[in-house]
Amino acid sequence: MSNIVQLHDKRFKPLIPSTEIHAAVKRLGEKINADYNDKNIVFVIVLKGSMMFAADLIREIAVPCRLEFLKAESYGSGTHSSGAVKINALTSMNLSGKDVIILEDIVDTGLTLKKILEHLAELAPASVTIATLLLKPDVCKGTVKTEYVGFEISPLFVVGYGLDYDEIGRNLPDIYVLTEEE
Ligand code: IMP
Repeated sequence: MSNIVQLHDKRFKPLIPSTEIHAAVKRLGEKINADYNDKNIVFVIVLKGSMMFAADLIREIAVPCRLEFLKAESYGSGTHSSGAVKINALTSMNLSGKDVIILEDIVDTGLTLKKILEHLAELAPASVTIATLLLKPDVCKGTVKTEYVGFEISPLFVVGYGLDYDEIGRNLPDIYVLTEEE
């Protein structure tokens, strides 16, 4: 894992190495397999940030599953949530009577997931649970119930493994955090 990375005007330092990420993803996959062993799953993958998490997690899934995609945007180009969330379904989203697991990269305020849950509720799924790689529990303060969580982290801005700062940094295999001098 390389040390400091510079993205645009900001510097980031290592937080979670890819080996730990993969171990956490494997653990989540095993738990989902056990919880859904007699079911079919529809994964709703929230782009763009969760694409790496989703790609790795679904390879751990041993029960039949379908994939649907939606896009949620809240951060714009900054490092704090803008508060306004735009949601666009990118695929058919035929979720009626289905067991849905939403795949998110990170839950910060929980606002994005609240909007997604409202959106999905209109599509009459049988059940909806949430899997997120990262959770900032101090910020989210239980606004949404996250059943599957990879890591709980402090309320700092992170990049890598799908997460971006103003659209760059998604390709980093490890997760990095904004340096303290920022
Ligand atoms: P929320 O609506 O505040 O929970 O924010 C959720 C979305 O904001 C996530 O899906 C990310 O796209 C983005 N986000 C939140 N925290 C971070 C971060 O630390 N780094 C990069 N993106 C973040």
